[in-house]
Amino acid sequence: MMLHVPVMLQEVLEALRPWEEQVCVVDGTLGAAGHARAILANCPRCRLVGIDQDPSALDEARLNLAPYGDRVTLIPGNFRDLSTLLPRYEIKVCSAFLFDLGVSSMQIDREERGFSFHGEGPLDMRMDSGTLSRGVTAADIVNSWELGDLIGLFRRYGEDPFAVPIARAIVMHRERYGPLMTTESLVALIRRTLPAPAQRKAGTHPARRIFQALRIAVNDEMEALRETLESLPSFCGDPSTVVFITYHSLEDRLVKQHMKTWAAEGKGLLVTKKPLVPREEEIRENKRSRSAKLRVFRFGPVPTREERRAARRKEGRSGGLPSA
Ligand SMILES: C[S@@+](CC[C@H](N)C(=O)[O-])C[C@H]1O[C@@H](n2cnc3c(N)ncnc32)[C@H](O)[C@@H]1O
Repeated sequence: MMLHVPVMLQEVLEALRPWEEQVCVVDGTLGAAGHARAILANCPRCRLVGIDQDPSALDEARLNLAPYGDRVTLIPGNFRDLSTLLPRYEIKVCSAFLFDLGVSSMQIDREERGFSFHGEGPLDMRMDSGTLSRGVTAADIVNSWELGDLIGLFRRYGEDPFAVPIARAIVMHRERYGPLMTTESLVALIRRTLPAPAQRKAGTHPARRIFQALRIAVNDEMEALRETLESLPSFCGDPSTVVFITYHSLEDRLVKQHMKTWAAEGKGLLVTKKPLVPREEEIRENKRSRSAKLRVFRFGPVPTREERRAARRKEGRSGGLPSA
């Protein structure tokens, strides 16, 4: 099983400096706590609040964060519910939020979760394994949605050029042979449907886009992200830093739009005018990082150029995040 390697870790740590500012850092996508552990190690005084909707991720994180004792609060839940989760745990002032979106390597590698087009598993894909949500699985969608809705889903969230033939093949299959229940059977159907040249197309698995679309729908990922971006300013202390790592253009576009709006409304500083991307070396070592884009926004009074230069001199560093 592959361990989850935290993506763009150095860039995340750099974005959260200066550490004296950090009172309480919320990791809204805790996973196995790769980022969280490094944050706690670098920030000796801050409290870390880790949220994840996957109970097995929280179990893993609990073990990994045990050395940090009561500096850590673990919260099972969806980050879209920040407004109810934070007060429940009496968290008032947050100095930073990190969202490393999507699924973890652990979730993908566990075939029984149904996220992987390489493995054999049930068509499930629920990040919370049904513990929090209404429990719609990928199989429910594949076997009950109308043709037009499947086409719309595969186009919108998968941006798949073969959305129409694949959706048609799914509907025909379930009418003739009954429901599709496993990842393997869906992959086989996609392979049968795609023309050979498309299958040979370099770099991507023929089922990648369809699996992405189903996963986004099952977990209502775009709506959860939109709601969170809309409510986030109300939880952010002054100053506070928000870091997003996204893995596909739909997510990235949404984050970019909101950060631009926050800047236009004078809520703070858009630190990354262009998203940061992983270094070549990181992509070589961790393939999962290749589509990552990192964006940072700092809520609070916007410092002048001179103030930002002085802060960087004080930090005693030459590189780091590009200033806006
Ligand atoms: C990419 S992994 C995070 C990995 C983590 N940064 C690390 O270094 O170990 C994303 C995690 O976020 C969780 N997640 C995704 N969307 C979520 C949501 N809306 N609410 C809560 N957790 C979510 C997933 O269950 C998964 O464990």
